[in-house]
Amino acid sequence: MKRIAVIGTGYVGLVTGTIFAHTGNRVVCCDVDARKIDQLQAGHMPIFEPGLSDIVETSVREERLSFSTDLTAAIQEADILYIAVGTPMSAKGDADMTYINRVAMTIAEAINSPKIVVIKSTVPVGTGHRVGQLIREHRAAPHEVAMVSNPEFLREGTAVKDALAMERAVIGTSSEVAYKEIASLHETLAKTIMRTSIESAEMIKYASNAFLATKISFINDIASICEATGADVSDIARGMGLDPRIGHQFLKAGVGFGGSCFPKDTKALMRIAETNGMRFPLMNAVIETNERMRRSIVDKVNNAANGLQGKTVAVFGLAFKPDTNDMRDAPALDIIPALREHGATVKAYDPIAIPEAREVLGSRASYHTSLYEAAKGADVILVLTEWKDILQADYHRLYALMNHPAVLVDGRNCLPDMAYSAGFDIRQVGRNYEPHTLAKAASSG
Ligand code: UDX
Repeated sequence: MKRIAVIGTGYVGLVTGTIFAHTGNRVVCCDVDARKIDQLQAGHMPIFEPGLSDIVETSVREERLSFSTDLTAAIQEADILYIAVGTPMSAKGDADMTYINRVAMTIAEAINSPKIVVIKSTVPVGTGHRVGQLIREHRAAPHEVAMVSNPEFLREGTAVKDALAMERAVIGTSSEVAYKEIASLHETLAKTIMRTSIESAEMIKYASNAFLATKISFINDIASICEATGADVSDIARGMGLDPRIGHQFLKAGVGFGGSCFPKDTKALMRIAETNGMRFPLMNAVIETNERMRRSIVDKVNNAANGLQGKTVAVFGLAFKPDTNDMRDAPALDIIPALREHGATVKAYDPIAIPEAREVLGSRASYHTSLYEAAKGADVILVLTEWKDILQADYHRLYALMNHPAVLVDGRNCLPDMAYSAGFDIRQVGRNYEPHTLAKAASSG
């Protein structure tokens, strides 16, 4: 049993701390946000993540997991300090180090024994070393500080599953002792444990996210060419993915990527290159394509509806992806205001992200927890997130509730077969809808 303090109880910190408690360690998750800590102490989850609340509850009951705002006490009682505070994007596009620096100073002031300080937050290359220096320069007592970079690769919506069966744990450190401690924390969790320098571990995180984002923008550019040439991007992705060197994953064309990682990390990586005197035109193109996809879906809706002035658009799915209530950089945040600028009224549906969406979108939309309510009296349905209930909806019923002709713009190429026979004018990304061809493709598997 190790004594761990996780500093920053956001998405990453909460999942990381809970998993370590679940595997038998004593963990305290800290945050300066007293409201969040109160909420967690009362057994309420601040985020929606499948499976999380159950293991939080068990770990709290079995006294391995607790929540606190007393950072100093948490630091003093732990041997391993996981830093998981936010690194939001600064005005220039690089990662803002304010919270990281503040935590480093608090550790320096509170230090009462040797500590292993692990940075979990996504930080620019070189941060681990810099934070180590900062703590050593300001430490109240000369105890040893071993720095580690241990980036996270969890996906929202499947974070618990991912964390219990990680493909890899990357542990960047020059300290033998720290490596052994952090590796043993991951023994039962990760298929592969990889040791690197701090800088390499920091870079692996950015390079991985940037590469996945590149795959998405690549297939989205191919999708635009498909639309112009009559090819079907779903077939292209399948055909490409059969080559194991390419693989099937992250080749789903659509409105592009959102969320807390890809948009921020691609920009931050560009900045890392720039601050080191280099250009990274490929990354620039990835970001531009992603922004273009959001504009092009609005154009698609506008064209299909013959103009949006006075029309009603039902937007299906607000969160940046299914199984999360996270609205950070969600495509809906750009697309809904743009629909409004074209004169449309927006009725928005999401199964769980409405409170979060309302906070950022306010009165730009009306909000519905029923797909059928949202579709009632609409001229267009626009699918932005492939939630399960959108995939399983009764499209004949939806069609009957709408104004006719009814348009269905599928921003995720995720419609079930029944949608094609319901009577809609259907538009997708990277494929020209032809009922005959699609029906044939579906029946031949
Ligand atoms: C991502 C990384 O996958 C994870 O390893 C890292 O730790 C954090 O960032 P996450 O943001 O939770 O995880 O979601 P992910 O499933 O990777 O999807 C990111 C975005 O890409 C979503 O908006 C999703 O809709 C989009 N996407 C994904 C596509 O548009 N097409 C695809 O083929 C895959």
